[in-house]
Amino acid sequence: MSPPGAVITGWGSALPDTVVTNAQLEARLDTTDEWIVTRSGIRERRIGGTVSSLATDAGRRALERAALAPEQVDLLVLATCTPDLAVPATSAAVHHALGLSGGAFDVNAACAGFVYALVAAHGALSAGAARRVLLIGADCVSRLTDPDDRATAVLFADGAGAVVLEAAEEDGLLAVDLGVDGSAHDLLTCAHGGFMVMEGKEVFRRAVRITVDSASNALQRAKLTPDDVSLFVPHQANLRIIEAVASRLGIPMDRVAVVVDRTGNTSSASVPLALADAADAGRLHPGDNVLMTGFGAGMSWASSVVRWAAP
Ligand code: ACO
Repeated sequence: MSPPGAVITGWGSALPDTVVTNAQLEARLDTTDEWIVTRSGIRERRIGGTVSSLATDAGRRALERAALAPEQVDLLVLATCTPDLAVPATSAAVHHALGLSGGAFDVNAACAGFVYALVAAHGALSAGAARRVLLIGADCVSRLTDPDDRATAVLFADGAGAVVLEAAEEDGLLAVDLGVDGSAHDLLTCAHGGFMVMEGKEVFRRAVRITVDSASNALQRAKLTPDDVSLFVPHQANLRIIEAVASRLGIPMDRVAVVVDRTGNTSSASVPLALADAADAGRLHPGDNVLMTGFGAGMSWASSVVRWAAP
C-alpha cells in the first residue's frame, strides 16, 4: 500500500525556440508595443512546436530533476486544451516518447487544467493506483489563434511545464478549491476548426473576482493566511489581473511568480511554467507554502496550496 500523501520532487519546463516580440506584431497588426504592454504586461512570447514535443521536453527535465528513470513513473497526467489530435489523447504520444510505465490520460480544464490535473494525480496516488506521477501542463494556443486578430494574437502562445509527484508519508497537498460557472461558457470559445473568440473585458472582470475567491477558499481550508504564502503562482494571462489579484489578497509582488511578460498566455502550461521558473531561480525552499490558482474558459477555476518539499 502506498503512503497516504504526495509531494513534488521535480520540475521542468520547455518553450519553443521562436520568439515573437511586440515589435514584430506591431509590424503586421494594427497594434502597438505600448498598447500590449499597458493592457497585458506581455513583451514577448514563444510560438511553435507541438503539444507532445513541448510536453516531452518539459517532462524529461522534471524526471531528471527528480532523479527518476522514465520506467519508474507509473502514471502520466497531461493537462492540455490544444491536443495534437482529437483522438488519441496526446498523453499517449508523450508516454511513448519518454518511455514511461503505467497509464496516461489528458485533462482539459483550459487554463485551470494544471491544478485540476494535480488533484487527479494526487487522487491516483491516494487510491494506490500509482506511486510516481508525471504531471504536465502543455498547450500550443497559437494554433487556435487567428494570427490576424489583434485582440487575441498578442495574448496567446505556446509552452509546457511539468512536475513529478511522488507518494510520501507527509502530504504536501494541503488544500484545494475547484469550480466552474458553465453559464459563462460562451465568454471564451473555440469551435472545431475555428479560432479563439473571447469577450476580453468580461473575462478580465470575472478573472479577478474568481481568482481572489478561489485562492481565499483554498487558503482557508489549509488554515493559512496570505502572510503564510511564500510564493503565489497565478495563471499567467495578464499582468494587470495578476497585480489586481495579489493586491486584493494582500500578497506583495515579490512573493508572486510572473513569467507572462516573457511567455504570454500559455493556458494549461502557464502555472507549471511559472512554478518551474521560480524553482529554477532558487525562490522555493523546503517547508514553503505555495499557492497556485488557475482560471479560464468554462469559466473554470482551481486553486491548491502545496507545501514545497524539494531541496
Ligand atoms: N492593439 C490595439 N488595440 C486593441 C488590441 C490590440 N492588440 N486589441 C484590442 N484593441 C482595442 C479594442 O478593439 C478596443 O477598441 P475600441 O474601444 O475602439 O472598441 C480597445 O482596444 C479597448 O479594448 P478592451 O477590450 O476594452 O481592452 P482591455 O483594457 O479590456 O484589455 C484585454 C483587453 C487585454 C484582452 C483584457 O480585457 C484582458 O486581458 N482580458 C482577460 C483575458 C484573459 O485573461 N483571457 C484568458 C483567460 S482563459 C484562457 O487563458 C484560455
